[in-house]
Amino acid sequence: MNQRNVFDGSFTPDFSPAIFERENPIPVGAWRHALSEIVGRSEAMERVLQTIVKVARSDSPVLIHGESGTGKELVARALHRLSPRASRRFLAVNCSAIPESLLESELFGYVKGAFTGAEKSRKGYFEEATGGTLFLDEIGEMPPRLQAKLLRVLQEKQYTPVGSNEVKLADVRIVTATNVDLEDAVAQQRFRLDLFYRLNVLPIVMPPLRERKGDIRLLLEHFLEHSNQSHGLVNQAFMTPEVYACLERYPWPGNVRELQNLIERIVVMTGGGAINIEALPQEYVQVKAGATARDHASVLIEKSEPILRDRDEGAFQASLEVLPPEGINLEFFIENLENSLIMQALERTGHNKNQAAKLLGLNRTTLVERIKKRKLAPLNSPSKEL
Ligand SMILES: Nc1ncnc2c1ncn2[C@@H]1O[C@H](COP(=O)(O)OP(=O)(O)OP(=O)(O)O)[C@@H](O)[C@H]1O
Ligand SMILES: [Mg+2]
Repeated sequence: MNQRNVFDGSFTPDFSPAIFERENPIPVGAWRHALSEIVGRSEAMERVLQTIVKVARSDSPVLIHGESGTGKELVARALHRLSPRASRRFLAVNCSAIPESLLESELFGYVKGAFTGAEKSRKGYFEEATGGTLFLDEIGEMPPRLQAKLLRVLQEKQYTPVGSNEVKLADVRIVTATNVDLEDAVAQQRFRLDLFYRLNVLPIVMPPLRERKGDIRLLLEHFLEHSNQSHGLVNQAFMTPEVYACLERYPWPGNVRELQNLIERIVVMTGGGAINIEALPQEYVQVKAGATARDHASVLIEKSEPILRDRDEGAFQASLEVLPPEGINLEFFIENLENSLIMQALERTGHNKNQAAKLLGLNRTTLVERIKKRKLAPLNSPSKEL
């Protein structure tokens, strides 16, 4: 495979297998394999990889901080593969995707008759993951009542299934992730400080893609190769130097997931061969050298004439900067604009409808209805592994 990453022989001197072997008695082949999915050789990513290797053997909780799409789940899986628990299960649970009323029984299990409809006992994720790793994603969304229960598991390594008196032993390594600033959530009393300390024993901070521009090209090549292979293209898709330059300037607010989805979309749309500037959606083309994520937001706003103007105290004001002499079809225009913003919100949040709805100032039900009505099916929706 033509995947270039930190293991392709271009190590910086302090990132050598010898150092890892001294500090961590893992066979070289094991960590090389466990980390091979993580593409990137910027200094920031090398630091992340070094931290993964250092903390993987410990059983202490790891909290992975980082914007959406930066690779937090990828890192959690790598931690598991490099841990002594690697032969047991890795279970990923998205705390924001499970309604509060179900989360407790999903995590800790329940016994027959615990609540209406509990016709037989069921194991929870803590039991299913016994001996392995439990990855609690979007931990910042965990409701306060469950935060207290999780704290008990971390302190006492014990939990009680819903409706039962039996105390069970929790034998899992807890890895959590957040894309919100948990310290902020603590300050606003939405997240318990004692739980934050317990979870944040070993923090890993994922750098956003705009802060490691050197990785963009590697990621583009990696996903291009992946899409070429998965579609079995005889006439393989490749990018012109101009396209690389353009995409290296773009600030990637949706990070690696946005990049991955873009490549998949372009390869499907072009069907192979040269990918030139014309194949790129407009917002990727217009970014000028030195642009920031903030500048990018205004590019998105300006890309369509008429223009969607500033966000003013939470409310967008649509205004027609220049109404063309021939006029426009207002309904068609507004529907297109809305579709485009919904798709961007979905991509930016990794198709997390709760977060996308927040970005758009809609409630979740309204967003879901609109997605259905307009048939805005995501191209590459990530799946939850349980
Ligand atoms: N460094 C990387 N190398 C290769 N693929 C990556 C990298 N980082 C992320 N990806 C890919 O990008 C996608 C998003 O990554 P992941 O789901 O781990 O992000 P995340 O930080 O958990 O996002 P979210 O907060 O939205 O859940 C996945 O398909 C993942 O495989
Ligand atoms: Mg994730």
